[in-house]
Amino acid sequence: MAEILNAGLVPQHRHGANIGQPLTRRDGLLKVTGQARYAADNHPPGMLHAVLAVSSIARGRVIFLDVTAAKTHPGVVEVMTPANRPPLALDPDAKLDPFMFRLDLLQNDRVRYAGQPIAVVIADTLEAATEAATLLSPRYEAEPPRIGLDGDDSFIPPAIGVGTPPEVRHGDVDAGLAVAEHRIEAIYETPAQYHNPMEPHAIVATWHGDRLLVDTPSQGLAWAVGRIAGLFGIPPENILIRSPFLGGGFGCKGMVSGPQVLGILAARLVGRPVKLVLRREQMYGPVGHRAPTRQTLRLGADRQGALTAIHHHMRTASSSFDDFFEPAVQVSHTLYASPAIATTAEAVRLDTGTPIFMRAPGEASGSIALESAIDEIAHVAGMDPLEFRLKNYAEVEPISGKPFSSKALRECYAQGAASFRWQGRPLAPRQMRDENGLLVGWGVGTATFPVIMFQGQARAVLRRDGTGLVELGAHDMGQGAWTALAQIAADSLSLKLERLEFRAGSSDLPDAGIAGGSSHTATAGMAIHNAGADAIAKLAELAMGDQRSPLFGAGNAGVLAHSGRLIRRDDDSRSESYADILSRAGLAEIEGRGSAGGDPFAEKPYAMHAHGAVFAEVKVDPELGQIRATRLVGAFAAGTIINPRLVRSQYYGGMIWGVSFALHERAELDPRSGRVMNANLAEYHVPVNADMPSIEAVLVEEHDPNVNALGIKGVGEIGITGTAGAIANAVWHATGVRVRSFPITIEQLIGAGAG
Ligand code: MOS
Repeated sequence: MAEILNAGLVPQHRHGANIGQPLTRRDGLLKVTGQARYAADNHPPGMLHAVLAVSSIARGRVIFLDVTAAKTHPGVVEVMTPANRPPLALDPDAKLDPFMFRLDLLQNDRVRYAGQPIAVVIADTLEAATEAATLLSPRYEAEPPRIGLDGDDSFIPPAIGVGTPPEVRHGDVDAGLAVAEHRIEAIYETPAQYHNPMEPHAIVATWHGDRLLVDTPSQGLAWAVGRIAGLFGIPPENILIRSPFLGGGFGCKGMVSGPQVLGILAARLVGRPVKLVLRREQMYGPVGHRAPTRQTLRLGADRQGALTAIHHHMRTASSSFDDFFEPAVQVSHTLYASPAIATTAEAVRLDTGTPIFMRAPGEASGSIALESAIDEIAHVAGMDPLEFRLKNYAEVEPISGKPFSSKALRECYAQGAASFRWQGRPLAPRQMRDENGLLVGWGVGTATFPVIMFQGQARAVLRRDGTGLVELGAHDMGQGAWTALAQIAADSLSLKLERLEFRAGSSDLPDAGIAGGSSHTATAGMAIHNAGADAIAKLAELAMGDQRSPLFGAGNAGVLAHSGRLIRRDDDSRSESYADILSRAGLAEIEGRGSAGGDPFAEKPYAMHAHGAVFAEVKVDPELGQIRATRLVGAFAAGTIINPRLVRSQYYGGMIWGVSFALHERAELDPRSGRVMNANLAEYHVPVNADMPSIEAVLVEEHDPNVNALGIKGVGEIGITGTAGAIANAVWHATGVRVRSFPITIEQLIGAGAG
């Protein structure tokens, strides 16, 4: 590694030696050798095992639990029900801010969705707790569940996503449609989807008096501490959450979930450490999901193929008891230019768990509908779908009129198309076959994701031995934060990576914001960058004010940091090592602090987005309707690339989600019971290796100083946007059948006579 870590002297700037390097994961060895300690790997002395009993009805009341039978089972220590659940300082149904979700913590006998926890069995062994949970034999007073989007009691939600108005109008859509030469109107349906990270929610909770130690996966440590502190009425300082590794998050570990809190309550009840791990099927209910949508797109275009109107309407669903409305229509605000754009929303309430953020919430479900509709109108207008997009993509954000802070979308279209070899694609569908007679289709979709930054902090230390420390409560869900953030940290102190100690994943470190919204590298990275700069500035001040230092009196010319030394900017023969400066000052170390996130209320002059274009090839068996995604090329521009290997991997992951959205994922709910019928990874389909085509991610160069000083945009979620639509469009191009209900399945193609 040493040769790629800047061995020369006096660079133009101190950043860049580590940033941009394709390093492998620094935690990779720990993970592949099983040494990485995940939450459920913790076994404090005296630990008991807790198992949830969950409701098999979706709506009603629990009228009986055979607690006696469960308690008599050998090894059972306690059964927690609404009758003996320890008190809480805050009503689990209180909602003090939009990010506070209502929880099911055994507050009463009501059942609000199938899979809701109704009791917790605590035993010496997992087996005893599991067996005893079945002995509870609950009886219910059941009411018919409300499932699906067809309910006639729809309403306009107060906000969609977090705080976005449910209705936005810009220009006159009806007038735009009236003057259009070409029009389409189509309805697209997306199903309920469940996050399904490899690691289910797990918690090991230990109380020491009113102090609490928690091992649990978290995408938002500071939020989790705040939530738990509020529920238990203890100071946040009394809570330590350790979350060094997550086996995936996808949004369902952003907020602390009910089952995690039940683990803490169980530990309190029995006065011993308790471990609670959800079984796979228990993930389908209390920890969030992506809500279903039904989206109506009305588009108009003039004779030249320029859009005259976009109306994007959605119907979605939240639970009966809380508010989260998938912001599917928002994508229509940012992708295509049109003199008239309207987005509108309605919702129904269902007897399901509360939906929540999941893998590009809004953008994913919205873009598969919008990208399909764009394809449909391009076809009606007789245009190649890429040509249509090149004509209509937005140069400035259409509604706000703000310029994109940097825009390489045209470059994404060009590089993606070249790599895919899009040229020569026949306009009409069903024109291409491969050597085995399979129908071949090519589709394209535009990708977009906003640049989001939360508030975050970091601490950086330079030590007299020439090493450095950077620490913050950052989260690694598997995306590579331990590596990418350490690269930024090493550069922020101008140290080689080997000389840097990097600490993250624990709530006693500075709040690093949320690992969500594809914001973590930008937020945590900028906090680190600023903390490092602060430490360097303090060290420079020390040296420049010391007559014995060769840097004395550097004054306005200043110094720069490079490879563990400070160097006079105007005379590189005068320099001094960090270690010498600290030794002479008699200091063991010097500390810097940094924050990031900026002023959330400041009016931003730019619309900040990452962009991309995805090209897909599918093959469809004309007799059997079987669909294979065979080639995927995504070209993405997302500002500064901290680690191209990890970024490529993020894009691959996003594109795989896109294939999953278009062809695989769907929760099947039984309308009679309200239960998810495929609550497992065998029948809830996600792509496996054999489903995945050759994938290529093209990293389009983009420099964007407006988003933040390092020019970092998010890369975690953009891959799913664009891809899902590209696949759907390729299926149409292969077969001539436009499937508008996702995922696209064999029976829909056969049923429409695609064979
Ligand atoms: Mo995510 S859905 O931003 O974890």
